[in-house]
Amino acid sequence: MSAKRLGIGLIGTGNISSAYLKAILGKDGMPGFPVLDIKGLADMRPEAAAARAAEFGLKAMSIDELLADPEIALVINLTIPRAHVEVGLKCLAAGKHVYSEKPLGVTYAEGRKLLDAANAAGLRIGSAPDTFLGGAHQQARAVVDSGVLGQLVGGTAFMLSPGHESWHPDPAFYYDLGGGPMLDMGPYYITDLVNLLGPVASVSAMSSRLRTERTITSEPKRGQTMPVRIDTHVTGALGFANGAIVQIGMSFDVAGHKHVPLEIYGTEQSLIVPDPNFFGGAVETRKRGREEQWQPVPVAQPYADGNYRSLGVADMALAILENRPHRANGDLALHVLEVMEAFEHAASQGRTVEIKTPVERPAPLAESLRDGRLG
Ligand SMILES: NC(=O)c1ccc[n+]([C@@H]2O[C@H](COP(=O)([O-])OP(=O)(O)OC[C@H]3O[C@@H](n4cnc5c(N)ncnc54)[C@H](O)[C@@H]3O)[C@@H](O)[C@H]2O)c1
Repeated sequence: MSAKRLGIGLIGTGNISSAYLKAILGKDGMPGFPVLDIKGLADMRPEAAAARAAEFGLKAMSIDELLADPEIALVINLTIPRAHVEVGLKCLAAGKHVYSEKPLGVTYAEGRKLLDAANAAGLRIGSAPDTFLGGAHQQARAVVDSGVLGQLVGGTAFMLSPGHESWHPDPAFYYDLGGGPMLDMGPYYITDLVNLLGPVASVSAMSSRLRTERTITSEPKRGQTMPVRIDTHVTGALGFANGAIVQIGMSFDVAGHKHVPLEIYGTEQSLIVPDPNFFGGAVETRKRGREEQWQPVPVAQPYADGNYRSLGVADMALAILENRPHRANGDLALHVLEVMEAFEHAASQGRTVEIKTPVERPAPLAESLRDGRLG
């Protein structure tokens, strides 16, 4: 474990903040990330920050106090998607690095604005998802990098669900602008694919919105209807710069299916990658040949056995202290945001859309591990 620590503030103490704080502070059997020295929590609802602070033995602050605190070098932004860029720009203006939940922004233009402001200020942007740093996904990356798959042909990516109104207490935002299956779940899948295959070069798509209104079936808003302002069934193809082509389906309209989340095809072997919404899961390969069977790939990489949300910001904090690039970075998140927005343009304009934001595959996590763990 590293003795180096970076002062951290956290803005947005809703649902997901609990998972971050458990992973950072080492609760529920997690090893913790001591490099993240949490100085305070804030929310536009002060009572939410106070409750979360009391739960974890931390300090609640107002947003202005947090931004003015000289001990805080980096802010973790866990607000809702439509507030990510607005809150991020405030943090940059206060001289803080920012790590944001996904998506980076709800449009490419606002994500670009955030990155430009950070570059101008000499500050860093990081962004979820960081599940691609999980042990199962890093193991899949090692399989791809070993070359055993042969020439990379393509793959499939599926997140097909009936929508969130059966369980989420307040699901209207999923069907409003900035919502939809692509912006909500696409970051996990597309980030994992870029980690495995490299940059996306082009996108083609078709999408539909068969219902213009949906009914909430979860409590406490059961029976209320919500307008649908986005397409809820999105299909298409991602053309990668290396020539691989991946078919994708993201939906809030599907009752059930039997696809695996991610498959990668090579001329010599195929690879199954587990659900990119999680850090662990089963990795499998199958060689070409009639008699061949799917074989498990043992997951030897760390961070496969728990909900390590904050792994990406721990890597970012260490990278700042060690003056090296961080993996879940703004360039990667902006590339993924451009790809997700391209699905809308490709579908509505009936054309293939070129992707322009350059991106490099992040280095495998193993290169920054000491004693098998990040500090
Ligand atoms: N809930 C999950 O399971 C989950 C999982 C992965 C990622 N995420 C992502 O995490 C983010 C937060 O999701 P959540 O479920 O925790 O949402 P949430 O609504 O439970 O919490 C968001 C919090 O941010 C606060 N907030 C909103 N706008 C703000 C602003 N302008 N300034 C300060 N505070 C503000 C709200 O008061 C609220 O406490 C989203 O980007 C979501 O996509 C959520």
